[in-house]
Amino acid sequence: MKCSFRISRRINKWSYSTMKMMYIVLILAIVAGCVQKNENQPVQLSEEQVIARGKQLVSLGACHDCHTPKIFDETGMHLDESRLLSGHPNGSKLPVIDERVFQPGHWTYFNEHFTAAVGMWGMTMSKNLTPHETGLKGWTPEVFIATMRSGKHMGIEHGRPIMPPMPWENLRDLPDEDLITIFKYLQSIKPIDNYVPEPMNPAQAMTFKY
Ligand code: HEC
Repeated sequence: MKCSFRISRRINKWSYSTMKMMYIVLILAIVAGCVQKNENQPVQLSEEQVIARGKQLVSLGACHDCHTPKIFDETGMHLDESRLLSGHPNGSKLPVIDERVFQPGHWTYFNEHFTAAVGMWGMTMSKNLTPHETGLKGWTPEVFIATMRSGKHMGIEHGRPIMPPMPWENLRDLPDEDLITIFKYLQSIKPIDNYVPEPMNPAQAMTFKY
C-alpha cells in the first residue's frame, strides 16, 4: 500500500514536470514561429537607426573621398571632421593646370583635397552635401532619388548632366529605401556655408581664378 502510494506520487510528479516541459516547448515553438515569420517582413528602424545606417552607406559609398576636405599630417591623410561633406572648399588654392590634361589619353588630376578634378571634360568641384542653403537644403528625397537615377543636375529631366568624377552610376541601382537612408543622413549633419562653383569647360577652367 505504502509502496504503491509512493509510485503514484512519483508518477504524478513525473507527469506534472513533463507537462510543464511540454508547455514550455510549445511556447518556445510558437515564439520561434513568430520570429521566423517576422524575418520576411521589413524591419522597422527608428529614425536614429536610419541615420546611423545612412552614415555607414555614405562611408561605404566613398562620398567622403570627394566631398570632404582632407587634413594631412605625419600619420597620413584624414577627413577634416569640421567640414564633413561640405564639398570643395571655396577659395582654396588650386594647382596650376597643365593644359595637356584636356587632351585624350592624358592624366586626370585632383587637387590636394580630392575635391576638384580636371580632365578631358574640363574642371568639376564636388558639391556641398550638407543641409545648408549652399548645399542640399530644400532638397527632397524625391529630388535626391531622381538625381541619382538620371545623372542630371537636381534630377531635372532636361537639365545638365552631372559631370565626372561624380559616380552617380554606382548609386542608381540602389533601392529607394537606401537612397532615402543616405539622404536622411545627409540632412542630419551640420550645415556648412560653402558655395561650390558650377563645372567648367576647358577654356573656363584655364582662366578660372579664386
Ligand atoms: C570620385 C569623386 C566623387 C565621389 C566618390 C562622390 N561624388 Fe558626388 N560629386 C562629385 C563631383 C565632382 C560633383 C559635382 C558634379 C557636377 O557639378 O556636375 C558631385 C556632385 C554630387 C551631387 C550634386 C548633384 C547635382 O545635382 O548637381 C550629389 C547630391 C552628390 N554628388 C552626392 C554624392 C554621394 C551621396 C556620394 C557617395 C555615395 C558621392 N556623391 C560620391 C564627386 C564625387
